[in-house]
Amino acid sequence: MSRIIVAIDGYSSCGKSSTARLVAERLNYRYIDTGAMYRAVTLYFLQNHVSLNNPREVADALEKTDIEFRSTREGKNETFLNGLNVEEEIRKLYVADQVSEVAAIGEVRKAMVRQQQRMGRKKGFVLDGRDIGTVVFPDAELKIFMNADPLVRARRRQQELIEKGELANLDEILENIRKRDIIDTTREESPLRQAPDAYVLDTTYMTLDEQVERVVLLADMIMSRQPSE
Ligand code: DC
Repeated sequence: MSRIIVAIDGYSSCGKSSTARLVAERLNYRYIDTGAMYRAVTLYFLQNHVSLNNPREVADALEKTDIEFRSTREGKNETFLNGLNVEEEIRKLYVADQVSEVAAIGEVRKAMVRQQQRMGRKKGFVLDGRDIGTVVFPDAELKIFMNADPLVRARRRQQELIEKGELANLDEILENIRKRDIIDTTREESPLRQAPDAYVLDTTYMTLDEQVERVVLLADMIMSRQPSE
């Protein structure tokens, strides 16, 4: 069967990453967490006190940022920034708090999109983010747009943080989610939009297994219609 690109976009904390990772496993595809790339850039900017309003500083910093995904011994795909594993650090609230602002910068987006297009050009990839089906791979064979009730999303994010040993206040998380929704959907540079040909998946009342099953089913259906390689 021929390989396809599966583009999963949507609001933060609707289960995009978990779904995308498991779908990739089921299809034997590679997974690219594009949010992790924006988070890694944000971490670099924070660590190096890059002023977001200074285009020269931003461009210089981008030159010095090398992001890659490496498989760990446990088979997990983890994010590396300039050779260091930053998977845990980029999930912390202080990074989440700044990431939307960094992801709204045109130069940052251009650099990340270029890298994502290069990574996924061979097909057989599942990517999740905000602009995958609209900007990065507008010709993706399967596009999913995920959404869920904000309170449900906040509870899920809180659970994730608790499991990682981070104390997290629900109101604070909900506020962060709402703030990010506003920035992600209203920014000038490729705002979060549902592609007209995307399948909408509201995950408010769905389990992770159900989400994965639905996407795999759609992928199988689309792949079976593709001409063989
Ligand atoms: O999916 P996430 O929560 O890890 O994403 C982190 C931030 O990065 C989110 O606020 C929006 C931004 N992002 C983006 O602008 N474009 C993408 N393709 C992926 C993420």
